[in-house]
Amino acid sequence: MNNTKLNLSNKSGKLVGIIGPMFSGKTSELLRRIKRSNIARKNWILFKPIIDQRYSKMDVVSHDLITAEAKVIKKSNEVYIYIGNNIKHIDDVFFDELQFFDSEIIPIIQEILFNGINITYAALQATSEGKPFPFIDNQKHIGDLLALPHEEIINLKAVCTRCGNDNAVFTFYTAGEKNEIIKVGGSETYTALCRTCFNELMNKKK
Ligand code: ADP
Ligand code: TMP
Ligand code: MG
Ligand code: ZN
Repeated sequence: MNNTKLNLSNKSGKLVGIIGPMFSGKTSELLRRIKRSNIARKNWILFKPIIDQRYSKMDVVSHDLITAEAKVIKKSNEVYIYIGNNIKHIDDVFFDELQFFDSEIIPIIQEILFNGINITYAALQATSEGKPFPFIDNQKHIGDLLALPHEEIINLKAVCTRCGNDNAVFTFYTAGEKNEIIKVGGSETYTALCRTCFNELMNKKK
């Protein structure tokens, strides 16, 4: 499949992005869509980055502990190992934690779509510092992917754990100093906050 621009199915796939802060339900929404793909007897494949070993080595797991079996990859181009020969038979490709891939995932996604396969991904839009989440090679960030035309972008919110409003769009790091962008964790180190609460707590940190 690599370097081929042959559109085998003569139709294009749909691109669906699921974004939001931690705890907003991105993985749950991804797993809900995988379940529907199952019901429709579609052939699907789910990828997750090796960085994310939070709840399980092989499965994608939501904070509510719902799971699906995933292919764990180190580099974006390993996607081709799994879908290369099966390309004619795959209907849907799913990605969780897309912010933990390298930026080559952007052209790879475009090529998969061109082959008539639907893509649905879940990704953090922002770091816990409120900045666009960079891909791991630092060449591009998640905003470069979001800038592509999508058939659907689902922008989820969490509940702000400080004021209770259902409009948390930020993730806040609760475990003190955080010097690196990537720090895998869950509710022991991160929480979801609305804009007002995030700004207040960030100002206190300074
Ligand atoms: P994400 O992948 O976006 O981090 P998940 O789909 O894994 O989210 O988990 C969503 C679940 O997290 C919710 O169904 C809820 O049970 C739980 N949760 C924990 N904290 C919050 C919060 N602050 N707001 C909303 N849901 C929360
Ligand atoms: P989640 O969005 O499915 O909850 O998972 C997000 C993962 O990303 C989790 O392991 C924590 C990690 N993370 C970082 O490494 N850096 C960050 O700045 C943020 C917000 C999350
Ligand atoms: Mg998730
Ligand atoms: Zn708040």
